[in-house]
Amino acid sequence: MKGFLVGLILGILIVPIAVFFYVETGQSPAAASDAPMPFEKFIAKGALHARIKKETQDRELSTFNAGDLAAGAEVYRTNCAFCHGLPLQAPSAASQGMFPHAPQLFTTKETVTDDPVGVTCWKVKNGIRLTGMPGFQKALSDQQMWQVSALMASADKLPPDVLRSLLPAAAPAEATSAASSATPAPVIPPPASPSQPK
Ligand code: HEC
Repeated sequence: MKGFLVGLILGILIVPIAVFFYVETGQSPAAASDAPMPFEKFIAKGALHARIKKETQDRELSTFNAGDLAAGAEVYRTNCAFCHGLPLQAPSAASQGMFPHAPQLFTTKETVTDDPVGVTCWKVKNGIRLTGMPGFQKALSDQQMWQVSALMASADKLPPDVLRSLLPAAAPAEATSAASSATPAPVIPPPASPSQPK
């Protein structure tokens, strides 16, 4: 009986003791460039999905008009582009220095066009814990958060003038001539032409 109790107590204590040494001896990740901790992704992603599922209210993308997208683009430029980049732009340096890195929301593989607008809006409103993604609840109005979320959901099919308003700042003269030329640039850059050797 005594042996069993000692075993039980040691068994209970071993996990906190191991965690204590893992952290105190500097082995747990602390820098943004470190590899993830064991179970970190599981805990972070699992908790996020469960929470969003519980709280999301959705809204059809078709209920947003061009004016909403234009307003969303304005919100995006000021609040999001620093981390999430602009169309036709190399990944922002800030995004690469973060763990997890900030997805480039206008780049083919990283857009959130498949996510319901409500899910994106939840992330914009509440942020994502233990990542660089801030919650904008106190910075933006509900309407602005919906508008920028609708913009994210439409990233691959933006009206030309909205897209133009998002292109990286051009010199003033270029900007005016770009605005007058009717051909919109593609949202997502085409793959480099095959004639260019890599
Ligand atoms: C300081 C940098 C930063 C700013 C500013 C920022 N984000 Fe983020 N965002 C992140 C990071 C980092 C992640 C990745 C989180 C993760 O991997 O779970 C993220 C994730 C997201 C996601 C989820 C992407 C996915 O694949 O599920 C969305 C959507 C998003 N951000 C939208 C926005 C919008 C819209 C704004 C502006 C209103 C914004 N973010 C501002 C850093 C930022």
